[in-house]
Amino acid sequence: MACSRFSFGLLCGVLVILVWASAAQLAHAARRYPYLGMEVQVKGFDRQPLQTQRPFNIAHRGSNGEIPEETAEAYVRAIAEGADFIESDITATKDGKLICFHDLVLDFVTDVADHAEFADRIRTYEAEGETVTGYFSVDFTLEELKTLRARQRFAFRDKSYNDKFQIVTFEEFISIALNSERIVGIYPEIKSPVFVNKHVKWPDGKTHEDIFVETLLKFGYGGKYLSKEWKDKPLFIQSFAPTSLIHASNLTDSPLILLLDNATSVTQDTNQTYAEITSDEYLKFISKYIVGLGPWKDTVVPPDVNNYLSAPTDLVARAHALNLQVHPYTFRNEYEYLHFDFHQDPYQEYSYWIHNVSVDGLFTDFVGTLHLYQQWTSPLN
Ligand SMILES: *[C@@H]1O[C@H](CO)[C@@H](O)[C@H](O)[C@H]1NC(C)=O
Ligand SMILES: *[C@@H]1O[C@H](CO)[C@@H](O)[C@H](O)[C@H]1NC(C)=O
Ligand SMILES: *[C@@H]1O[C@H](CO)[C@@H](O)[C@H](O)[C@H]1NC(C)=O
Ligand SMILES: *[C@@H]1O[C@H](CO)[C@@H](O)[C@H](O)[C@H]1NC(C)=O
Repeated sequence: MACSRFSFGLLCGVLVILVWASAAQLAHAARRYPYLGMEVQVKGFDRQPLQTQRPFNIAHRGSNGEIPEETAEAYVRAIAEGADFIESDITATKDGKLICFHDLVLDFVTDVADHAEFADRIRTYEAEGETVTGYFSVDFTLEELKTLRARQRFAFRDKSYNDKFQIVTFEEFISIALNSERIVGIYPEIKSPVFVNKHVKWPDGKTHEDIFVETLLKFGYGGKYLSKEWKDKPLFIQSFAPTSLIHASNLTDSPLILLLDNATSVTQDTNQTYAEITSDEYLKFISKYIVGLGPWKDTVVPPDVNNYLSAPTDLVARAHALNLQVHPYTFRNEYEYLHFDFHQDPYQEYSYWIHNVSVDGLFTDFVGTLHLYQQWTSPLN
């Protein structure tokens, strides 16, 4: 910009300040909202590290207690509320793009049924031991999925954000974490790999697991748990399918978490019950590959028929003896999910799991509540 001699004083000074301020503002916005399509370079900016002094606050599908799950807005909100990790289910589209979406079908958390152009996409497939009918994400291209809008899953949660936000890709999800103002980890799940590999085909015989790990490598993720590389880009890879984790362990040294379902449910890949999977013998075998377990919390401390807790199982003790972490799912504030022992108080539930059960991380729908509880009881240095 040319500043003439006459105007150089005040006016030009103001212009320079304005240009400087708006560039700074844009850079700031780009860091915070990378999914707006702005290219961002985060290297060299000095960010608050991941805390490792207390159990991890894992934002289950973003701050989905408030905002429709797995949307950019739910993830940005979770980070603002203090998440250590943002968590996501990674599945695939018909054209092989990886997206963040929990269910096999779009029916429950999108407006797909209102799109007349997709009325003929309803299908019935066998999936994970069940016959499921609906609009499957594997039958839609990414471009088609981007025309849908997300909805809140539960009737008792805020619906004012319905029909506003899009499904995000795995890459957009990663960008949200990488461009956040402090270091925030990611906790993606290799979701329904048996079903996805059956319905989606990639070139060169590559699998869902291959494309999943390639995406992480492309963004520079790698390194063993707590290594310097890991702390720069914290990551846990999770799956209910043990063979997917073993395959991933061949492609990356990033830490892996084996998810555990109800004891009688069977794995989608090896057809083992989760009771078998949690035997001493199996845990010893799988501990060569993984750093921890992600159990459904009611399998760790089963509730009785009156909704009071029974004695905890020995799963946490056995896992810790093998140096495995335990990150149970899912903590929710609403009374529908709080066992009566906790007097309808989510802080009492967190206190119990953190201090009595000694877990190492918690998947929560209400990141802000867990964060405030932890700041109150064990504030960061
Ligand atoms: C891991 O890699 C080795 C060597 O390439 C291969 O022989 C083995 O089958 C792979 N295992 C899995 C589970 O992918
Ligand atoms: C486990 O089983 C119970 C009772 O059948 C069910 O309510 C719950 O949703 C199941 N949990 C998971 C994680 O599937
Ligand atoms: C899984 O195991 C059960 C019990 O051993 C068996 O009956 C069933 O046929 C198996 N299913 C598959 C798909 O292999
Ligand atoms: C949790 O531990 C505290 C302190 O050791 C104990 O007083 C309390 O009874 C325990 N709570 C439960 C539900 O076991």
